[in-house]
Formats: sequence, C-alpha cells, structure tokens
Amino acid sequence: MKFKILKANKKHIKEIQEISTQQFGLLGWAPNFFESELKNENHFFYVVVVNQCVENIQDNNGLVNSNIFLKKEKKGFINPCQKIVGFINFMQTEGELGLDFNILNIATREEFKNKGVASALINFVFKLAKQRKFKSVWLEVRCSNNVAIHLYQKLGFQQLYIRKNYYSNGEDAIIFRKIF
Ligand SMILES: CC(C)(COP(=O)(O)OP(=O)(O)OC[C@H]1O[C@@H](n2cnc3c(N)ncnc32)[C@H](O)[C@@H]1OP(=O)(O)O)[C@@H](O)C(=O)NCCC(=O)NCCS
Repeated sequence: MKFKILKANKKHIKEIQEISTQQFGLLGWAPNFFESELKNENHFFYVVVVNQCVENIQDNNGLVNSNIFLKKEKKGFINPCQKIVGFINFMQTEGELGLDFNILNIATREEFKNKGVASALINFVFKLAKQRKFKSVWLEVRCSNNVAIHLYQKLGFQQLYIRKNYYSNGEDAIIFRKIF
C-alpha cells in the first residue's frame, strides 16, 4: 500500500476524530482536543494519507500514477480519493538522556490495520528525533494492549518501568523507551 505522511491541519480533524472514536471510543479525547493540539507549538501532529482511487486504478490496469494526485493537490483541489488512515501526535520533553520525543497518541483506521501504517509513523518520529540529535523516544501503553506492545517491541522499544493504576479504570501503564 502506498501512502504519504503529512503534517496534520484543520481539514484533517474530522477524519482524525473519526479514527479516534473508532479506536478509543469513550476513552478517546474530546472533539475540541485535536484542534487545540494543532495550535500547540510544542506538540507535533502527523497523518497518513492514502489515495484510494490511484490504488484501485493501479491495481486494475496500471494506467494512473500518483503524480496526478500530487498535481491536483498542489492546485488546491480537494481530492475525494484522499483518505486519512492513521495519525500520531507527540511532544518534545526532557528526560535523563536530554531532549526527547514523547508519543502521546497513535491510531490506525480499522480497515487499514496491519499494513504498516503505525510502523511508518513511528519510524518517522525516529527520523525527526535523530535529525534533532535526540537520544530517545518514549511512550506509555496500557498493559492489556498486546497489539501496541508487540508493535513497540518490534520497533526496538524496551520496557523502562510500570506505572501502577495509571489509567482511570485502574489499569497499569508500561513506559517504553527506544534509545538510538
Ligand atoms: C496499535 C495500532 C496503532 C497499530 O497500527 P497498525 O497500523 O496496524 O500497525 P502496523 O501494521 O505497523 O503493525 C501492527 C503489528 O501488530 C501485529 N498484530 C496485529 N494483531 C495482533 C495481535 N492480536 N497480537 C499481537 N500482535 C498483533 C501485526 O502482526 C503487526 O506486527 P508484524 O509487523 O510483526 O506482523 C492499531 O492497532 C490501533 O490503532 N490500535 C488502537 C489504538 C491504540 O491502541 N493505540 C496505541 C495506544 S498506546
């Protein structure tokens, strides 16, 4: 699957909210949260976008390439084929190894899971962190979230410690850190 990672903007909020509700339900953030996150200069918000029309046409006869999609975007057309399939937001913090990134939230649209969307987003955060000469990226995850834990371990995160009763339902949080 071909996709692009873009800086999130106001036009993306509806779809980000849709994915958040789908993936987190009542545990998700309030609707106005995403708008305030976009305005927060110390926070970073990115989305994964696919062009479903190009994907479909390429699959069938290979006649259309993604340049058409890009040209249309540059001219400012709203492309009905464009779909947000995942998002990530993170912030800069300072830890024992110096400045780092803390991943606050990541989610993938249900029907696009297990296609490498979240892996691409996290690798993108690693790239940004390395560009800034940060030594680490960290995050917290519910101890019951086996899929996310599998993903973080696959990408080289290691368990740092456990925060007992961290979530409102009494669940523990595992703090994972990736050191470069
Ligand atoms: C966690 C999440 C972001 C992963 O997104 P994704 O785009 O599907 O991730 P990727 O495709 O990059 O990788 C998924 C990995 O999980 C694995 N996986 C899928 N289901 C699994 C399961 N039930 N148990 C263990 N691993 C599982 C996949 O096989 C894949 O690993 P692999 O590459 O070794 O095969 C997504 O499942 C999601 O949105 N979950 C709900 C929100 C959430 O929990 N966010 C994290 C909060 S800390």
